[in-house]
Amino acid sequence: MNIFRRLLNKGGTQRTASFSIHESDIFIVSYPKSGNTWVRFLIGNYLTDGRMDFKDSHQVIPDMHFNPRDIDKIKLKPRFIKSHDSFNENFRNVIYIVRDGRDVAISYFFFLKKTGDLPVDISFDEFFNSRFITGNVGFGDWGEHVKSWLNARSVNKIMVKYEDLMDETEKVFTRILYYLKLKDIDADRVRMSIAQSSFESMSKNESNNPEYFYELGGLKDTGYGFMRKGEVGDWRNHFTEDNLVRFKAKYGELMRELGYEF
Ligand code: PPS
Repeated sequence: MNIFRRLLNKGGTQRTASFSIHESDIFIVSYPKSGNTWVRFLIGNYLTDGRMDFKDSHQVIPDMHFNPRDIDKIKLKPRFIKSHDSFNENFRNVIYIVRDGRDVAISYFFFLKKTGDLPVDISFDEFFNSRFITGNVGFGDWGEHVKSWLNARSVNKIMVKYEDLMDETEKVFTRILYYLKLKDIDADRVRMSIAQSSFESMSKNESNNPEYFYELGGLKDTGYGFMRKGEVGDWRNHFTEDNLVRFKAKYGELMRELGYEF
């Protein structure tokens, strides 16, 4: 089942309630294509002594949109659950990952081509103007999503920027572990988890686990993987001046609030 396909034409958010939420559950939340899988692997590798892989990832940290029924089978306490929901008052503990919306737009564009949800010949410009900037994509408008969590007051949350994780992986990941109040944070285990969750390591893992991606709905052979580039600033290779003007007009204030520079 491809959740992006199911939601692409709906926009808005998805609320799945087919599992029971516990007070102690920790949700790894982000707008799509913001680095959620990276954080999931970092935490998963830390918890499993480096055994996190795509194939079994849902047994460790399930995705509430993809396999909600697996969540009640999780034995770990607290449970970790991946979500793309915008603010959901039922989530008590949230790791929210935010990424520069321009890179999110690029990553989403290429990913939706890979899932077959966008025609192969559609240009980025067309996708940007007709889908991304209007919020007419799965999980809705990027800015609304980010703001919904940024302004959430009654939640025990930590905000993590993809770009900070790139810059200072060890520092930011350790901050996440402190947030989780894990006893005796082990620096060697932190470094091992980072190595096992590097872009290269996860790309290799992707190649070794094609069956996982069939389950995701069968991704198309586009010459790049789910692990596509993993870079900061790829938008510069694709945005037109006009795209940037529209992006700034709509999200400029939020981008500044998040500390992104124009
Ligand atoms: S999804 O499908 O919405 O859950 O996607 P998500 O995992 O949130 O985001 C996918 C993008 O994150 C990049 N990624 C990484 N970057 C750097 N290092 C590591 N380890 C890593 N893991 C995933 C992934 O490549 C996607 O970004 P793009 O820009 O498309 O490469």
